[in-house]
Amino acid sequence: MSQATNQSWGGRFSEPTDAFVARFTASVTFDQRLARQDIQGSIAHATMLARVGVLTDEERDTIINGLTEIQGEIERGEFNWSIPLEDVHMNIEARLTDKIGITGKKLHTGRSRNDQVATDIRLFMRDEIDVIEAELVRLREGMIELADREADTIMPGFTHLQTAQPVTFGHHLLAWQEMLTRDHERLLDCRKRVNVMPLGAAALAGTTYPIDRHVTAELLGFDRPAENSLDAVSDRDFAIEFTSFASILLMHLSRMSEELVLWTSAQFDFIDLPDRFCTGSSIMPQKKNPDVPELVRGKTGRVYGHLMALLTLMKSQPLAYNKDNQEDKEPLFDAVDTVRDCLKAFADMVPAIEPKKDSMYEAARRGFSTATDLADYLVRKGVAFRDAHEIVGQSVAYGLKTKKDLSEMTLEELQQFSATIEQDVFEVLTLEGSVAARNHIGGTAPDQVRAAASRAREALAALKGDA
Ligand code: ARG
Repeated sequence: MSQATNQSWGGRFSEPTDAFVARFTASVTFDQRLARQDIQGSIAHATMLARVGVLTDEERDTIINGLTEIQGEIERGEFNWSIPLEDVHMNIEARLTDKIGITGKKLHTGRSRNDQVATDIRLFMRDEIDVIEAELVRLREGMIELADREADTIMPGFTHLQTAQPVTFGHHLLAWQEMLTRDHERLLDCRKRVNVMPLGAAALAGTTYPIDRHVTAELLGFDRPAENSLDAVSDRDFAIEFTSFASILLMHLSRMSEELVLWTSAQFDFIDLPDRFCTGSSIMPQKKNPDVPELVRGKTGRVYGHLMALLTLMKSQPLAYNKDNQEDKEPLFDAVDTVRDCLKAFADMVPAIEPKKDSMYEAARRGFSTATDLADYLVRKGVAFRDAHEIVGQSVAYGLKTKKDLSEMTLEELQQFSATIEQDVFEVLTLEGSVAARNHIGGTAPDQVRAAASRAREALAALKGDA
């Protein structure tokens, strides 16, 4: 049985809360993470109340000093969080009243925990989005640099995970970078809808005090007060949007991880990851495992789970606030932490990728990756594409039988399949010729990759911090 709970709202209750119910309904074990934003919001609220004459300037200063001291207690780990006090909001308010007496009880004038919590999460998300954006920018910058450096490095490009055509490693990295550009745009777009202020909606209908929501919004750096009080306390779209951004980003990082894992294997042998990003095996002394990309791939699942949890949390909720909403925090916190850690891992790791250029080149030479180039060559000499396709198919079959790449066959061998083939064919059958020929915007030619990297750098500079 909890006596303490009754002090905040117990006036109409005839018995204390059941001890299990107090624990079951409490959120303080996890929402204490919002303490800094809660205090920030309360300071702005008290400042606004004094500005409109609901508090005196003296009361405001007493409240602000008390809250600032509490902030210090929390930071030093001295704050005594109480489960009977339910959540971060009532813990801080009760402590304030302990410290400054009756004035502490005036802080909640014209406010409810419903608009308070919605404000806290938005402030929290805004802070976290800015940290996440900085990591995303760091990753993108590192990736663009690596792409530029590897603009001439040739590797096989795949479809169906079968060797398809040669590409440059820089081009492959810039494909990753395009995914991240879209993620970056989504994040900044989400931030716009995060940065709207619920405070002043009070429980659901607004408040009878002469509050000025524009003042509070400005003090807290919000773009504007939320338009409708019912929507303000109940909207969690921004949380769903963030986890949706996070899910798509992690899906991308997972795809990149999968490639990194494949590429470090002895079978591919395309890259080396420095030892600091890998771990060993306790039984197999030779092992060096790509744990970091594997874990990022693995963590994608929990972020998808959080998106589903939040979507399901919100469906069927009638207006306005419902206690269900207390369940928004843990998925959101974990999504934030997971995204931040995965981005940090990638931002540290990507610039340290060491391509094994010879091995990539050899792999591109196997698997008849220039077969399409031979077909295009025949078309340029007047053969219809379907006939060219057939001729090259026969050449490949011959190559498989004799274990020769197209470029390793003699002119006479190639001419068995078409008399149109001449000495100049060997220019198109080289890997360098093949990639250089794809020389248009979006193509894999080294010059195009360098130009694309420089455009990417400019676009990133224009986008970053664009909030
Ligand atoms: N702990 C609550 C939450 O996280 C705070 C708001 C509670 N409001 C209420 N009327 N019970 O959503």
